[in-house]
Amino acid sequence: MNLRPIRDALIARLADLTPAERDIFLARFDRYAPDAAALLVQIYGDADDFAACLQSIFLTAADSYRERADDLMALDARHEANPRWHQDAGMVGGVCYVDQFAGTVHGIGEKIPYFQELGLTYLHLMPLFRTPDGPSDGGYAVSSYREVNPNLGSMDDLRALATNLRENGISLVLDFVFNHTASDHDWALQAKAGDIAYQDYYYLFDDRTMPDAYEATLREIFPDEHPGAFTFDEDLNQWIWTTFHAYQWDLNYANPAVFRHMLEEMLTLANAGVEVLRLDAVAFIWKQLGTNCENLPQAHTIIRAFNALVRIAAPAMIFKSEAIVHPDQVVSYFGEGEWAGRECEISYHPLLMVELWEALATRHTHLLTYSMRHRFAIPESCTWVNYIRSHDDIGWGFADEDAQALQIHGFYHRQYLNRFYTGDEPGSFAAGMPFQFNPKNQDMRISGTTASLAGLEKALAAGDDWQIELAIRRILLITGITMSMGGIPLIYLGDEIGQLNDASYLSNPEKAHDSRWTHRPPMDWDRAFERHTEGSLVQRIFTPMKQMIALRKRQPAFGAAAETQVFALENRHIFAFRKRSGEHAILVIGSFTEEEQRIEPEGLGLAGQPLHRDLISGTAIDLSSVLTLPPYGLLWLAMEAG
Ligand code: GLC
Repeated sequence: MNLRPIRDALIARLADLTPAERDIFLARFDRYAPDAAALLVQIYGDADDFAACLQSIFLTAADSYRERADDLMALDARHEANPRWHQDAGMVGGVCYVDQFAGTVHGIGEKIPYFQELGLTYLHLMPLFRTPDGPSDGGYAVSSYREVNPNLGSMDDLRALATNLRENGISLVLDFVFNHTASDHDWALQAKAGDIAYQDYYYLFDDRTMPDAYEATLREIFPDEHPGAFTFDEDLNQWIWTTFHAYQWDLNYANPAVFRHMLEEMLTLANAGVEVLRLDAVAFIWKQLGTNCENLPQAHTIIRAFNALVRIAAPAMIFKSEAIVHPDQVVSYFGEGEWAGRECEISYHPLLMVELWEALATRHTHLLTYSMRHRFAIPESCTWVNYIRSHDDIGWGFADEDAQALQIHGFYHRQYLNRFYTGDEPGSFAAGMPFQFNPKNQDMRISGTTASLAGLEKALAAGDDWQIELAIRRILLITGITMSMGGIPLIYLGDEIGQLNDASYLSNPEKAHDSRWTHRPPMDWDRAFERHTEGSLVQRIFTPMKQMIALRKRQPAFGAAAETQVFALENRHIFAFRKRSGEHAILVIGSFTEEEQRIEPEGLGLAGQPLHRDLISGTAIDLSSVLTLPPYGLLWLAMEAG
């Protein structure tokens, strides 16, 4: 394709920049525009005015570049020079709601010393833009991508916070809720007012014919809220595609105007100082009759096109995929084949998350081991975000194929895990809550904080010191795995002080129907203060977690680029893997049972090796004899120098 005329138009558009600034943009254009254009042809090439569309898309990128602040331009250069900055072992993430954690955007800035005390370098603030009055799906119904929710602050506050965080070594991560807008977003209001151009921003249907046809193959995401995926709108007298809630209208990416407009919104966030953009509900952005409308090839094409355009206009920013789908599909958002590493640079790792909980429930690690042996590898420039829970529910998204290979029946196993984590299974230590039970297929997910799911809530209620100790060890075990497995560990803030489920959401009519609020409690700063009290419950969780973070940062072998070898051991209670980066190798061994375990060093290929040191306890371990692991023990074994 001849991009010359577009390039000339861009030069004219950038006339007020210095020649050096213009050259930087043009160099990036020359490098990435052919990709972007080729991708956009695939999606929009049939449009009559495609050439004009393409030009307006690149002009949007140029306009955003013109407005980019100097410090962000400097950051662009730094990240371009070190494009794998997200793979560093120094990376550690935290996530929180602005209001629940610190009241306001400004208040978050005041918590920087706390983030630093923990060692965070990545802060994901949950959606903080304007939302409709009433329910807003925790901010995931965005009424304007350009206005901070007035209860939380202003755009100026957000820009100031991004700068403040960056100056303190912390990258700001925000959501891009781009599958849908709120039903009171300006575009939706114009659609309601009869503007045909804006009606084409969404999927509207006059009767049930098409919705019925689509629903024949769709999955129900929030069946409690509405069965199926469509909502009738009285004003429009039409059915609207609403995958999630009735007030979240799916955007129509088959319309190039939507792509261009959303690029503009995305680049506005980049210019506010966002370094990692979490692409929310990424799997759902393309619809095609006869499919489940998830993970379609066009969704990948669109993200790749967005990515190429961000490389041109704001390359400091990378994409994080939020695809809570089959593990094969999760990986596909890193980009495949020649696109590997050029779609989303980082991604949640939901499989590790669910299989850590699965292993805690069953006390068996064979599913975790099997999956991680087969599925941990990703394109070398990409990074997993390893977490043990998020603001969302836990859905048992292991691959049925993996389960089958181990003679585990996926359906019944999920039923078992749901019973276990809601406390219905005899011997369960967990105090989780059901989320979105679907009577049609018995599907259900789980809500709960880390501490409550790991047994702390029940143990405290029972006043059982040993159970309290075991719960703490479970928390530290699975957190420790996320710290060492390779990738960015991500802590839901509040978990580091062992916050329990919070029932107060039940008295709020806007939240009562959504049990996920049980694990989104306000940060309990009085409790957090107890981290300074030696021997307190909070200190017993916080201090070891903080120490693991500090240790991790010093181990190149824990960076995302390090080699990973997961061991298939005979002992099914143990999860063990070796990380290696150049000279540095660390063996991680975790026990998922309350029974003491003994392991033969031969199984780990360690027989006859010299002394190792456990980085966590600081003690020397002699591998010439049997290794004993205490209940839920975790070892990070490094070869002793000399
Ligand atoms: C993502 C969010 C979830 C939200 C949904 C719809 O999955 O994590 O909280 O409900 O998208 O935006």
